[in-house]
Amino acid sequence: MNRIPKGPLVTGAAIALSGSLLGIGALAVSSSNEIGITPTTNSAANGNASPIYGVTIPSGYREWQAIAPSLEAPPLDELRIILGNPAGFQAFREGTLPFPDGTILAKVAWKRVPSTFSTTASFPGQATTVQFMVKDSKKYAATDGWGFGRFVNGKPTSLAEHKTCFACHQSLAKDHDFVITRYAQ
Ligand code: HEC
Repeated sequence: MNRIPKGPLVTGAAIALSGSLLGIGALAVSSSNEIGITPTTNSAANGNASPIYGVTIPSGYREWQAIAPSLEAPPLDELRIILGNPAGFQAFREGTLPFPDGTILAKVAWKRVPSTFSTTASFPGQATTVQFMVKDSKKYAATDGWGFGRFVNGKPTSLAEHKTCFACHQSLAKDHDFVITRYAQ
């Protein structure tokens, strides 16, 4: 916990299922490392924590610095911003790879709506999802050091959704420590 200053992020209980849920392959790769997770089935112990990983919404994330914006075309049609906590932001600025333990990245998304002031501009409309990636190379050894959490209205989304996070990030950004966003200069 000391290495992740802001977040009441992890309870051992909630990440306990990671090995079995994420597949034998992931587990086998990391089994030589000490994962340090005590298996339990009580992943619902904290209703505000994400399934599998036990990530909760870090306090103060809205004050973090911007790494880059992104735009998602319809049908989702979203405006997004990727934010980094101080450790994460510094790593982006300096091009540090892998990201150090304690890094937390956020992706905050809104529906894109036409600006009321300009015919060509867009505004953020209703908030959709807030997502986090938390770096802790020991706790999340089974997923190459990253824990994931997706939240809608402050509540974590389904187990099924959380099963998809690592696989997609792995397929898209294996050479960038599983982080897809690049720093917008
Ligand atoms: C189908 C692919 C896919 C899946 C599944 C996925 N992501 Fe991502 N993620 C992306 C892409 C592409 C980006 C780049 C930014 C964007 O799309 O706005 C991204 C960006 C992020 C970021 C910002 C850091 C970065 O890597 O760029 C976070 C945090 C994040 N995702 C969390 C999650 C969480 C949590 C889950 C599971 C609940 C998840 N993602 C599932 C594709 C995916």
